[in-house]
Amino acid sequence: MKRAIQKAETLVEALPYIKEFSGSTIVIKYGGSAMNDQDLRESTLKDIVLLKYLGMRPVIVHGGGKHISELLKQVGKEVKFLDGLRVTDKETMKFTQMVLAGQINKDMVSDIHKAGGKACGLSGKDGHLLEAKKMDSGSKDYGFVGEITQVNTELIDLVHSGGFIPVISPIAVSAEGDSLNINADIAAAEIAIALNAEKIIYLTDVNGILRNVDDPTSTISHLTPSEVEVLDKEGILNEGMVPKMKSCIRAIKLGVKKVHIINGTTPHSMLLEIFTQSGIGTEIVA
Ligand SMILES: Nc1ncnc2c1ncn2[C@@H]1O[C@H](COP(=O)(O)OP(=O)(O)OP(=O)(O)O)[C@@H](O)[C@H]1O
Ligand SMILES: [Mg+2]
Repeated sequence: MKRAIQKAETLVEALPYIKEFSGSTIVIKYGGSAMNDQDLRESTLKDIVLLKYLGMRPVIVHGGGKHISELLKQVGKEVKFLDGLRVTDKETMKFTQMVLAGQINKDMVSDIHKAGGKACGLSGKDGHLLEAKKMDSGSKDYGFVGEITQVNTELIDLVHSGGFIPVISPIAVSAEGDSLNINADIAAAEIAIALNAEKIIYLTDVNGILRNVDDPTSTISHLTPSEVEVLDKEGILNEGMVPKMKSCIRAIKLGVKKVHIINGTTPHSMLLEIFTQSGIGTEIVA
């Protein structure tokens, strides 16, 4: 009986947060590095189904960096990164699309259905959701890596109004009709800006922004965009954290109220972050 009452109390505790966020758009960037364990992935997607039934508008943008690298190694192709972005030749782009839009996206859609929700998988090419141009980087050549020029949100709205959760692969289309690889962190931020989202939640494989990447207890719990810039100058943010940090700053400057970076390998981390006062991970607020 005591346990049952405690459960009811937990539900009531969430009431102010449900009231605050019901009807608002929450963009969830689900990092490929946090989705290795199948049980955990199903549990995370079930949490997202719960958000939808509580009246929120979750939009999932997924990554898959480590899955792409695995396939490239299998077929004997070189894996190359520059400033945290994957250098993408024509063939790498083909494999990237296969892994993201073909494999990860579809697996997530079926896991959401298994969890009792409804999902619709899209790539940025569907309905011209993500338009991009090749990244202009001076002397550096990233290949088929895109810079988003426009986000067309009609399809996302349509999917939501039908009761579906949109699951988006970060692949864009250029004016010439080429596929362009977009870093999923950047795609999530641009989508959040276009949707006027309340928050972005980055689910990754570390406990947030760490002062020392080798020490999981060194999480910095609260940051402003200018403090993030200082950390970057100090050389604390590297590899996959670079595009995350850049896109967080841009999203906050352009109206997204809060960005959370949390560990997607901790069960229910997202629910703890949204529905309790004792948030975990790093939050970035203006
Ligand atoms: N200061 C830092 N704090 C936390 N993580 C950092 C830091 N500097 C670098 N990192 C690295 O960033 C990684 C997270 O980015 P990564 O791109 O690997 O994952 P993801 O974005 O969640 O997944 P995907 O790229 O597949 O979408 C961490 O595993 C960590 O190694
Ligand atoms: Mg990444």
